[in-house]
Amino acid sequence: MCGIVGYIGEKRCTPILLHGLKNLEYRGYDSAGIAILENHSIQIQKEKGRVANLESLVNPLCLQGTVGIAHTRWATHGKPSHVNSHPHLDSDSCFAVVHNGIIENYKVLREFLEEEGYTFSSKTDTEVIPNLIHYYYTLQKETSISAFLQAVSSTCQRLEGSYAILAIGKDFPGIEIAVKKDSPLVIGKGNKEFYIASDMPAILEYTRDFYFLEENEMALIEKERIAFFDANLKKHEKLLTSIPFDALSSTKRGYEDFMLKEIYEQPEAIRRTIANRIQFGKPIDFSDISFSKKELTHLHQIYIVACGTAMHAGFVGKQIIEKLCHIPTHVEIASEFRYGSPFLSSHTLCIFVSQSGETADTIAGLRLAKEKGAKTLAISNVIGSSITREADQSIYTYAGPEIAVASTKAYTCQIALLCLFALYLSELRKTEKVEQIEDLKRELFELPEKLEEILQKHELLQNIANQVYQETDMFFLGRGIDYYVALEGSLKLKEISYLHSEAYPAGELKHGPIALIEEGTIVIGILTQDALLSKTISNLQEVITRGAKVIAITMAELPQDLFEFVFKIPTTNSYFSPLLSIVPLQLLSYYVAKEKNLDVDKPRNLAKSVTVE
Ligand code: F6R
Repeated sequence: MCGIVGYIGEKRCTPILLHGLKNLEYRGYDSAGIAILENHSIQIQKEKGRVANLESLVNPLCLQGTVGIAHTRWATHGKPSHVNSHPHLDSDSCFAVVHNGIIENYKVLREFLEEEGYTFSSKTDTEVIPNLIHYYYTLQKETSISAFLQAVSSTCQRLEGSYAILAIGKDFPGIEIAVKKDSPLVIGKGNKEFYIASDMPAILEYTRDFYFLEENEMALIEKERIAFFDANLKKHEKLLTSIPFDALSSTKRGYEDFMLKEIYEQPEAIRRTIANRIQFGKPIDFSDISFSKKELTHLHQIYIVACGTAMHAGFVGKQIIEKLCHIPTHVEIASEFRYGSPFLSSHTLCIFVSQSGETADTIAGLRLAKEKGAKTLAISNVIGSSITREADQSIYTYAGPEIAVASTKAYTCQIALLCLFALYLSELRKTEKVEQIEDLKRELFELPEKLEEILQKHELLQNIANQVYQETDMFFLGRGIDYYVALEGSLKLKEISYLHSEAYPAGELKHGPIALIEEGTIVIGILTQDALLSKTISNLQEVITRGAKVIAITMAELPQDLFEFVFKIPTTNSYFSPLLSIVPLQLLSYYVAKEKNLDVDKPRNLAKSVTVE
C-alpha cells in the first residue's frame, strides 16, 4: 500500500528518495512521485506506474536539493494517473504533501476550501491537506516556522480518518514536518541528517536509530535537530530506539523471486522463532511475556484477531489451543471484530497476529479489546511495529523481512509460535501430561528438517503446475486442521496466479458447491489427520465420481489409483501438520504463477501492508 520516504540533510536527496521508494515497491502501488525544495520553489516529478518510470523522468543533474519528500501511491480516491499521484500542492504551490491513509471527511473539506477560493486538480482525498495547511498558514499573517507548524496542527484537527503526512513549504528550505494518526511513520537519525519513511526497510541501509511517531504526534525536522510535539503543540522529549535488522535479508540472494527465497527460508525462520524457547525437560520459555501465571491460568477464553494469511495461522492456533489447553478460542477477521460487540473481560486474552504489525483493521481491533478490558498480546514479525507498541505484551516471529506480497515464511512462523504458546499455556494449566508435552516439543523441534525434505521435492510440484496452470477453477478440501490449510492454499493460488479457487471443509461440499464439480475439475485434498482420513477419502471419492481429478497432500499411504497424484509429506504429530502440508501448496501456487508468466512478488491490486481499512 502507499509508501512515504523523506530526507533532510546535506546530501542530494533525489537518489536517496528514489532508492527508498524502490525499497518500498514490494508493498504494492500504482504511481510514484517526488518533491524537492530548490531555490525557494518546490520541484515535483510524478508519474503513473513503476518507480522506474519516475526515475526516467527525473534528471538528477537538475535536482540538487537536499530536502525532499516522495511517495508511492496505491489508489483509493481517484484512479492511478499523473494528476492523482502524490506529492500534492496547494493551489498557490506553497506547500507540498505526501500522505498515506484516507481522509474520510475530504468532501466537506474540499467544499469548504472551494468556497474559500481554493482550486483542485486531482480527485484525491489528499489534496485537501496542502490547501488546508495554506489556509491556516495565511490566517496567521506571519511567515515563521511556528506558523507552519501551527498550520499543520490546525489542519490535522480538521481531518477525520487515518494519515501519515510529510509536508514541506517553499519558504522553509531547511524544514520538514511529519505527523501521523493510525498510519505508521518512522524517522531515522543519521549524521546531520534525518530519513523519514512509512516503513523501516525503505531507509534501513542508512541508519538503525529510529524515532517512532505515536498517535497525533508531530515532528519538526531540521538537518541537525528534531523536536516533537503533541496534538496541542506541547513540546516533549522522545527516545531514540536502535533496531537490530538484517538489511541483507531484503535481497533475493540468488533466488529468482523473493517469494521463492522466502519459501526456502522457512526451515531456518522456524528454527529462529522457536529455538530459544524450547529446552527439553524444562518449561517453555515465554519469560518475555509478563502476564502472571495466575492471569494465564484464569483465562476464560481467547480471541485471535487478524486478517488474511495471519488469520489462517490463527485458525490453526485455535485448534491447538483448544485441544491442548482446553480454553475456548475464537478466531475473528479483524475488519469484522473491530465493529462487533465481542464479550471481553479481564479474563479474556486477545491475540493479534500480524506480520507487518501495521494492518489498520488489526490495530483497530486491538484498541477495541483494550477499551473493553481484555489482555492483549501481539504476534508480529516487525520489532517496533505499531501493533507491538500498543499491545500489553508482544512476542515475535523471527522470519526476517518478508518482501513478497504473498506471505509464506511469516505464516509458518506464526503457526510455530502459536503452537509453542499453546504448549506453554498447557504446561501452566497442567492440561496435558508432562511426557506428552515433552514429545510435542521434540516433534516441533524436528519440523524444520522435515520441511527441508519437502523443499527437495519441488520438481514434482513444478510438474503438477505445468499440467494445471491453464485451469480456471480449483477446489481445496480438508477436514479439521486440514481445512484451515486448504483456506491458505487457496488464498495463495488466487493471490499470485489469479486462478479462481475455493476452499471447503470436505464434508460441506455436498451441501451446494459440489454442483460446480465437472469432468476434469482439479481438486486438491489435504489429508493429514488420521482420525478423519477415511471421512475425507469418502468425500474425495464423491468428487472423483463426478469427474474431478484429485491431487492428495498426505502423510498416509493412500491408494495411488484413486488419485491423479499423491504428494507425500513426512509424518509429524497431527497438531503440527499445517507447518508441512502448506509448503507443497505454496510451491504449487508459485510454479503456476511462473507458468503464467506473472509477477510473483508483486501481484496486481495487492499491497504488502494494508494500512487503510
Ligand atoms: C496474503 C497476505 C495477507 C496478509 C494480511 C495481513 O498472502 O499476506 O493476507 O496476511 O494482509 O497482513 P499482516 O499479517 O501484515 O497483518
